[in-house]
Amino acid sequence: MKINEAKLKITELTEKLNQWNLEYYEDDNPSVDDVEYDLALKELKSLETQFPELISSESPTQKVGGFIASKFEKYEHSQPMLSLGNAFNKEDLIEFDQQILKVTNSDKHNYFAELKIDGLSISLIYKNKKLFKAVTRGDGLVGEDVTANVKMIKEIPHEIETDEEIVEVRGEIYLSKDEFAKINQKRLAANEPIFANPRNAAAGTLRQLDSRVVKERNLKAFLYFYMNRESDSIKTHEESLELIKRLGLPTNNEGKLCQSIEEVWNYIEKYTQIRNDLPYEIDGIVIKINNFELYEKIGYTSKTPKWAIAFKFPAEIKSTKLIDIFPTIGRTGRVTYNAQLEPVQIAGTTVRAATLHNADFIISRDIRIGSMVKIKKAGDIIPEVISSINDNEFEKLAIWKPATNCPDCESFLEKTPGEVDQYCINNNCPKKIIKSLEHFVSRDAMNIEGLSIKILEKLYGEKIINDVADIFKIEKFEKQIVELENFGEKSFKNLITAIQKSKNNSSERLLFGLGIRHVGKKTAKVLIKNYKSIVNLMKIDFQELSQIYDIGVVVAQSLVDWFLVEENKKLIEKIKNLGVNLDYKNEAESVSELFLNQIFVITGTLSKSRNHFRDLLENNGAKVTESISKNANYLLAGEDGGSKLAKAKNLGVKIISEKDLINMMEEK
Ligand code: IVH
Repeated sequence: MKINEAKLKITELTEKLNQWNLEYYEDDNPSVDDVEYDLALKELKSLETQFPELISSESPTQKVGGFIASKFEKYEHSQPMLSLGNAFNKEDLIEFDQQILKVTNSDKHNYFAELKIDGLSISLIYKNKKLFKAVTRGDGLVGEDVTANVKMIKEIPHEIETDEEIVEVRGEIYLSKDEFAKINQKRLAANEPIFANPRNAAAGTLRQLDSRVVKERNLKAFLYFYMNRESDSIKTHEESLELIKRLGLPTNNEGKLCQSIEEVWNYIEKYTQIRNDLPYEIDGIVIKINNFELYEKIGYTSKTPKWAIAFKFPAEIKSTKLIDIFPTIGRTGRVTYNAQLEPVQIAGTTVRAATLHNADFIISRDIRIGSMVKIKKAGDIIPEVISSINDNEFEKLAIWKPATNCPDCESFLEKTPGEVDQYCINNNCPKKIIKSLEHFVSRDAMNIEGLSIKILEKLYGEKIINDVADIFKIEKFEKQIVELENFGEKSFKNLITAIQKSKNNSSERLLFGLGIRHVGKKTAKVLIKNYKSIVNLMKIDFQELSQIYDIGVVVAQSLVDWFLVEENKKLIEKIKNLGVNLDYKNEAESVSELFLNQIFVITGTLSKSRNHFRDLLENNGAKVTESISKNANYLLAGEDGGSKLAKAKNLGVKIISEKDLINMMEEK
């Protein structure tokens, strides 16, 4: 086909698909069936593969359900989406109650106890009655705009009856236990990886680029947080739930108003008993002060409100048979032992494997292959073997012995006396190399999207990538890579763009990505901020390094050792020659809830200039003003605070020292 002919065909298909999308997503009234739709989409995709220069960002192949871009847009929350502090037992709850009674100077409060739904939080914004945005929690400040997908959830109305111009309601999106089971059955049948639990499945579904999948999967929602609380008509959480219900939004009916923390405890005991009978997964109970008036008085910490708390159910413990113990090698060469188990249901999921940590862990508990073991799993945490069960069969089983050789490269495993872990110290161990590559491209390191561990394994196998520097050379292997299974020209292009972009990263990402022992994300940042470049870091000696605030002798030694190795020096040189930035770039500090929009005033003599502190605060999202007023949140006071200090005291503005500020920075 000639390019002009393709152009015409692409326009025709685009118009058709856009029309069908409109009918399907907006009007709920499609004029063609899925087969016809998919055929047209397939034809368009194939034309775009042949003529990539004709792909427009407006093409139906590039959008979710035809309405949002293939990557979800970011959306800033009107107010941060906070999380909750945790309580694990009755004592924690009593302490929570006491604290509230103290700050409110009273002897009794009503609490609203409700189920903690194990889904993912969502904020729904209605503008002029219409569903305007649905946004995920994201980092609490900025979430992802998943409106098109949320519109596929039957329970969520696209329009509500209200006089308010903007109504924001927050809650949870979840999958019922039944739906979850159905999805996994389908995935098993289609040879696709199954979801670990309903929450992951719900999150995976909401981040689908194809809204049709969302529609199919029957997501549900419970809304529990009405944001327009200044409205006169509602004064309590209980009333706000009624209002949410009147708006036609789904609410959970199991909540209960409790007159005391004792009553809350009874509620918790009841649901601990019956949680497995509920049609959806819950991971705790949320306890909220009922009276809105008290919210501001009780206040907030940096990340959570102090007027609510989440009681977390204790980890479930089950017993099952341990079928096998096998070691795996991490990127540093460290050995982790895992248990293969007879499948067992714990906390709503089927557990087939659990961690055994290291050899000492297994030996000290005398865990043996073939024995019955107790397994624990709490929430997101990886299941863990707690102990073996000494039944009649136990004595007949062989005592377990640690591996002596690396399961991947077979070299001898080393263990430093006094340390618990065994290490594979072979620098050419394929497993270590692949895991290091995976770390190098990961989000907190170079952040190169599109290089999954599977692809890295292939490229390593093909000898296209032998070390991290080779990642920056893969453009040359386009033909070979595109020929690899599952790799389209388009994904290759995207990958190259991601790699190119990563070359301009501020270099703490590169430093962290190199995987030097003890150099974590935070340490890498401190080092690069202090020394401005990896090149400078390479020249520094142990003495100097260990004197930097936040860097201890262990990190210093590890770094110096790493840079002494000739091969490592050559690697940095190779990376540099491939055009990768080695310098610090002042990427904006991550703004934190603790500082965001807080007003600071600075007074007195500090250890560094006022401008230094002004920059620091502003980079963290705070505002700095010259004069003190009742609007100020903090006075940062050095020696000789003068009249500002006196005024702040008068107005009740919180006064903090430089040391307090450093503590706050660490807390954020
Ligand atoms: S209230 C500012 N109520 O739990 C208070 N949260 O660990 C906002 N969650 O991020 C939360 N069920 O996603 C609240 N009934 C419920 C909840 C609930 C589930 C989730 C929510 C939140 C997380 C906090």
